[in-house]
Amino acid sequence: MPRLGVNIDHVATIRQARRTFEPDPVWAAAGAELGGADQITVHLREDRRHIQDRDLEILRRTVTVRMNLECACVDEMLQIACQTRPDQVCLVPERREEVTTEGGLDVAGNLSLVTDSVQRLMDAGIEVSLFIDADAKQLVAAKQTGAAAIELHTGTYAHAERGAATARALEQLVVAARQGSDLGLLVDAGHGLTYSNVIPVAAIHGLRELNIGHSIVSRSIFIGMTEAVREMKRLVAGPFSG
Ligand code: PXP
Repeated sequence: MPRLGVNIDHVATIRQARRTFEPDPVWAAAGAELGGADQITVHLREDRRHIQDRDLEILRRTVTVRMNLECACVDEMLQIACQTRPDQVCLVPERREEVTTEGGLDVAGNLSLVTDSVQRLMDAGIEVSLFIDADAKQLVAAKQTGAAAIELHTGTYAHAERGAATARALEQLVVAARQGSDLGLLVDAGHGLTYSNVIPVAAIHGLRELNIGHSIVSRSIFIGMTEAVREMKRLVAGPFSG
């Protein structure tokens, strides 16, 4: 069964809508841990639209499961990451005008920049993952950087028209997960996963972890973070887990 990383960014999105103190993502992390989260994930964006530096500092001291920091491959973020020392950093592409991360990092097209960034983080004792599309060229390039892990972008699967396009996107993820494992990479997945589309992804052979945010935070508004994480854990565990 893959681990469940719970991305709590959008708790901070609600707080930032009013630039106030609530809801606090630190509370959300505690609730997610109670529900069985194996990892807390946050994305510190350059524009600070949701998670703030203060959140990262407090979470680093209070989260008791693994902590995964998503950030762009830029000097400011790498410096913050090296100071904060999360268990893992996932390098993602970032454009200010995007609503959310729109695709994987072009590792093949930026090999020396990404390799230098991976090295800098590894020298600080941080495990590194690269958020990439399910594409053979990107997988090979990811391996060349020295990163231990990849996170496969599941957005194409999640946003595909139901039917043949969904099946095709799922098959691409299956093939990429196999290729990643064959290359000796740890294979994670995430983006756009929901209570209704997660089961086939969770069943992909060899996946280490799933990172899920928006859907869990959305569900938590109605039933609470702890229960929302419990429900997702049950789906990730699969139909035969009891
Ligand atoms: N994984 C990565 C690398 C992401 O950038 C995001 C979004 O921040 C997620 C997973 C979670 O995506 P979602 O909020 O759609 O579950």
